[in-house]
Formats: sequence, structure tokens, C-alpha cells
Amino acid sequence: MQQTVHLTRPDDWHLHLRDGALLRQVAAVSARQFSRALAMPNLKPPLIRVEQALAYRQRILDSLPRGNGFSPYLSVYLTDKTPLQEVSVAAECPYVLGFKLYPAGATTHSGAGVTGLDKIYPILEAMEEHDLVLQVHGEVTDPEIDIFDREKVFIERELIPVVARFPRLRIVLEHITTQEGVDFVRGAPETVAGTLTPQHLLYNRNMLLTGGIRPHYYCLPVLKRETHRQALLSAAISGNPKFFLGTDSAPHLRQHKETDCGCAGCFSAPAALELYAEAFDQAGALDKLEAFASFHGADFYRLPRNSGKIVLRRSEWTMPTSYGGEAGEIVPLRAGETLRWRLSSYPEKP
Ligand code: DOR
Ligand code: ZN
Repeated sequence: MQQTVHLTRPDDWHLHLRDGALLRQVAAVSARQFSRALAMPNLKPPLIRVEQALAYRQRILDSLPRGNGFSPYLSVYLTDKTPLQEVSVAAECPYVLGFKLYPAGATTHSGAGVTGLDKIYPILEAMEEHDLVLQVHGEVTDPEIDIFDREKVFIERELIPVVARFPRLRIVLEHITTQEGVDFVRGAPETVAGTLTPQHLLYNRNMLLTGGIRPHYYCLPVLKRETHRQALLSAAISGNPKFFLGTDSAPHLRQHKETDCGCAGCFSAPAALELYAEAFDQAGALDKLEAFASFHGADFYRLPRNSGKIVLRRSEWTMPTSYGGEAGEIVPLRAGETLRWRLSSYPEKP
């Protein structure tokens, strides 16, 4: 049985780092595992301008020990009123990789998001010209649509027409959760890729409701049935460069999860790589983990692959029941449970 996995330093291409005290509490947890991350802009208020995104980048850096080596990248939050000139401003910033499409009302702090894709067609055209990437939360918000079908319907109604209309626009369908999402990315041109989270690779929707409601497994898009999980896993281990790592680690304080209307988001950051390793190991595909975690995303974003290595060891340990700190208590994914892999060496300092 394979006991160790050696990986080039990986990156997280979809991460919520929050702001203020919560940022200071969680940033180092991701920086310990990843070399770079694409930080999400759904703050309060959202990062709707490049200038705000760059100021946030500095706050992220300030929240980490000096010389840490972690490099955050940003996506700017699209609204119906994003000014066209913002696209050329973004194109000048090496740390801004694109714009994030949150359909208004789809998820946490998406209230200022886009109410109709036609409203941002000029922006998409300019992004295509400037070769900026559109990061997509792919769910419709139509209340008529069953929550488990929202990704599938978004692909049919919104994404397929956008790809046809803007054939050179590079798009990442983030946190894919369905067979339809996998099929869409596979069948789309080279311009389209997708990220996969650890929770969607490891769990199906039974995890949310078996033996009681488990709020710490609730995220959006919500976990789907087992056939979908199988489709995601086969995409992750396929070696297809269109699929890569994006944890969507999304910390919320315990009291905002364990309540009558709990927030969506799984705090996977403390053991993100270990969770992916478990999923790949269960599928007998540990040899495919490095490309998924460390190469495909960097290649898609046209950034150099990292240098340096990390090592994961087969070794059992127990996830703490919570992570306390300045902002409060956060319950991690797999709290109090056994993990089978452990990161045993940390990224070398550059
Ligand atoms: O579960 C989620 N949590 N999904 C998202 O799209 C947003 C995220 C958050 O910011 O909490
Ligand atoms: Zn997210």
C-alpha cells in the first residue's frame, strides 16, 4: 500500500478568506498548504472594483507572517453596473485573474450580483478581448427550479448560450456538483474548465441528512446524489487538464451554521489536501493527484507551475472539533473525525 505522495506545491483556485478578524484567523490555515489561491470577492461590501480587490490582497498579505510565500490572486465581483473600463484596469493587474459571476441571490453575499446575463454582455465581450477569465457560480436562482437542479438548469439556460456567443472567453465553472456540469466542461472548447471541491468528491447528499441535519456539510451548490459524486470523481482522476483543485473552503462562525437558517459553506482548509488525497486514494488514483492539485489550474491560468515539493503521508489523525480564534469558533469539515492522510512537510520558503 502506498504510504507517501510527493507533490509539487499545490494551489487553491477557489477560496473564501473573508476579511478582518476572520481573515486573520483563517488565512494561515490555507497558506500552510497552498502556494497560491484565488480569493473570492463576496465580502461585505463585495469587491466590485479592481482597486478594492488590490487593497484586499494587501490585507490578506498583512494577515500572514512576513516571508510566508503565499501569493493571493483575485477575482472582481460583477454587478449589473460594472463599468466597462474596469475590464482594462483588471487586465493591467497581474494579480487579478478575472471577474466572478454570482447570479444575484444564488449564495452568500450575492445580493449585489448579476440579475441577467444580458446585462453584462459588453463586459464579457471586453473580457474576451483582454483575455480575462470569467469565474462562475453556476446556479439559477429561479424559485421554480428545484434546488438540486439549479446547476443543470444554469448550464442549459445561461452557460451554453454564453459559450456560443463568446467563443474566446475563458470560463471556469466553479465547484461543479453534477454529471451535467462534468459533461458540459468535457464537451466545451478548450476555453472552458472547472474546479472540484473536496466535499463534493467525498460526499453525497445523504451526508446532510442521515441521522439528523448536519449543517457543517451544507454548502452551495448543495451536495448531490451518489451518481453525481461518481461523475465528479471520475473527472478529477481522469487526468483531463480541464479539471482542477478549488476547495471553496468557506468559513462561517459556529453560531451562523448551527441556527434556524444556517449559512452555506464548508471549512475544509485545515485538511484540504488530505481530503483530496482520501478521495483520490479511495478511487485508486493517487498518481493523478499532483496534476489535479498542482498543474492543471496553473496551466489554465497561464501561470508558472510552482517549484518545491510537499509530502503527504498515510497516517491517521483526528481533526479538531473546532478552530477558535479572534473572530470566534469555526467548525471544520470532518470535525472530531479521523483523517487518513497527513501533510508531513510544509512548502519550502521561496
Ligand atoms: O457554500 C458556499 N459558501 N457557497 C458559495 O457559493 C459561497 C460560500 C460562502 O461565501 O460562504
Ligand atoms: Zn465559493
